[in-house]
Amino acid sequence: INIDLPDEQARLEAAQRLRIGIYFATWWALNVVFNIYNKKVLNAFPYPWLTSTLSLATGSLMMLISWATRIADAPNTDLEFWKTLFPVAVAHTIGHVAATVSMSKVAVSFTHIIKSGEPAFSVLVSRFLLGETFPVPVYLSLLPIIGGCALAAVTELNFNMTGFMGAMISNLAFVFRNIFSKKGMKGKSVSGMNYYACLSILSLLILTPFAIAVEGPKMWAAGWENAISQIGPHFIWWVAAQSVFYHLYNQVSYMSLDQISPLTFSIGNTMKRISVIVSSILIFHTPVQPINALGAAIAILGTFLYSQAKL
Ligand code: 3PG
Repeated sequence: INIDLPDEQARLEAAQRLRIGIYFATWWALNVVFNIYNKKVLNAFPYPWLTSTLSLATGSLMMLISWATRIADAPNTDLEFWKTLFPVAVAHTIGHVAATVSMSKVAVSFTHIIKSGEPAFSVLVSRFLLGETFPVPVYLSLLPIIGGCALAAVTELNFNMTGFMGAMISNLAFVFRNIFSKKGMKGKSVSGMNYYACLSILSLLILTPFAIAVEGPKMWAAGWENAISQIGPHFIWWVAAQSVFYHLYNQVSYMSLDQISPLTFSIGNTMKRISVIVSSILIFHTPVQPINALGAAIAILGTFLYSQAKL
């Protein structure tokens, strides 16, 4: 038995690593597909408030059907749960719409380079709003993150202020979303999958009136007609793909958050951005100058240093 125990332990650890590896690979693959279709849709139909709303609506519908047909068990929630979820949903809505507005104005790769700076926002918010302090190496790791993002931004060929600010606002909003949702998921009465489903439903309710106010049915109808005449009737499949894949990648990411620490999650998220940046540059033939790529590489390296410093 003495000999077998470490073996059993090693086997369990290997199985857990494999499981997390599969979650991560699925999360990144789904996210790449989402980003590609989302950008294809936005190129032909530049209404990010509607596409953001459709992503949330599709996810909500998929989950309501799964619950009704008992493919998934519906969560047992009370008013207190929805109240705690509210600030998470506000932050999720702002972060989602801001990222989509950003991607409607600039290259997908640029949005994600700026979004790779999210750990810097996390430290600054924790430090200045929550009064948390960190060891010096954590602060030092912010220098390459901020410097790399700044270098990538000033050398970006198709820089656009709305695109830049959208990605920055998304970073800030997602830091708050993560802080609030860590609190909300504690206690574990609702699984990661159902937690994200509830988040989608509440975010959809919050976003819809704003989407109507900012863009509205008149613009959407004219834009839609234009997109169909440009692309053809299969444009609707692009919209469906961006919506379904948005829900799936987020659902898998929340399922993996159930299994891992927020720190491992944020490392996984940065690695996800590398696959999105590289694949979107290849697919959309995004022009990149060497100095621009250097900025992105420094920022991503900074995120890894940050994760090491935080261990
Ligand atoms: C969105 O539309 O919500 C963004 O693309 C999300 O970005 P992230 O999940 O990669 O942070």
